[in-house]
Amino acid sequence: MHVFVTGATGFVGSAIVETLLAKGHQVTGLVRDLAKAQPLIAQGMVPQPGEMAAAQTYLPVVPTVDAVIQAAQLSVQGRFTNASKQQINQADQHMTLALAQACLQHDKRLVYTSGCFNYGDHGATWIDETTPAIPSPLGEGHAAVVAQLLALHHQQGLNVIVLSPGFVYGPGGLFKASFYDTLKKGQLRVFGKGDNYWSPIHVQDLAHAFEKALDQGKAGEVYNIVDDEPLPLRQLVNHLTTSQGVKPVGSIPPWLIGLLIGRPLVQSLTSSFRVNNQKAKQELNWKPVYARFEQGIIGVLSTLNTKA
Ligand SMILES: NC(=O)c1ccc[n+]([C@@H]2O[C@H](COP(=O)([O-])OP(=O)(O)OC[C@H]3O[C@@H](n4cnc5c(N)ncnc54)[C@H](OP(=O)(O)O)[C@@H]3O)[C@@H](O)[C@H]2O)c1
Repeated sequence: MHVFVTGATGFVGSAIVETLLAKGHQVTGLVRDLAKAQPLIAQGMVPQPGEMAAAQTYLPVVPTVDAVIQAAQLSVQGRFTNASKQQINQADQHMTLALAQACLQHDKRLVYTSGCFNYGDHGATWIDETTPAIPSPLGEGHAAVVAQLLALHHQQGLNVIVLSPGFVYGPGGLFKASFYDTLKKGQLRVFGKGDNYWSPIHVQDLAHAFEKALDQGKAGEVYNIVDDEPLPLRQLVNHLTTSQGVKPVGSIPPWLIGLLIGRPLVQSLTSSFRVNNQKAKQELNWKPVYARFEQGIIGVLSTLNTKA
């Protein structure tokens, strides 16, 4: 297949591009920084310079490919406030709906990257794709876009598949910035008690799910992409510190960390999402190589420690 991947140089997008290229697909990637895209170009990706706000930079690609994967997300600096949340959500909505209209017009498959914050806080209750979305602040934007995409599927036949990754970890991205780097600086803390469930997924397992979704996903369906064993946040952080050979870290009250990094972010990160992956396993013919965070984190830390 020839696939157009937006956000190609991002944490999730670059893993998707590398997986698709390794599987023999042709990939065009939307990039805003050609220098950052060089490693992907060297592996065979064709770069399409572009910008989320400028639809004319990416819509002409749609008729030339077999499928589109939307994995771009507006980068905003500083504390995560309601204003930054609104900016991110507007950019996502503008771009995704433009891509959806182009996919409808040219009869292409669209795979949209959503997230598990859409479900909101469900305590220790297992979440599957039928669980109603009562989004945490970080999930509000994706939840609204997903509702619009599914309406376009039902009303106009849009060939869309939604993948909802849990907490994505790997040697880069948000995981590196928020966990690995802060641990190295001695600043990593668990927000509150840490008894809220997180559902991790290794970035390579997530990329494989995208590859499977391209030809095995059913149009109009949502698939949760998480590993087999969601775990409380405190346990996740303890696995990280144990694997890195350092002492367990302390806790910080959510209200206090909220002042530093923004309340909507902390409210989302302290929510509990214990997510089930059965549907993706059954319908996408996919399963995570790293079934548990405890397994996947070892290689991730080894890669990051080698680079450091
Ligand atoms: N990471 C997670 O744990 C996680 C979990 C669940 C869902 N998701 C979802 O996965 C998607 C991708 O997340 P990510 O972690 O890969 O984020 P990321 O690493 O920040 O990547 C975002 C991508 O979007 C590009 N981008 C940012 N602003 C742009 C603009 N104005 N115009 C064009 N491109 C722009 C970035 O380009 P540059 O490379 O040039 O910065 C980058 O390629 C998001 O929708 C996110 O909500 C992520």
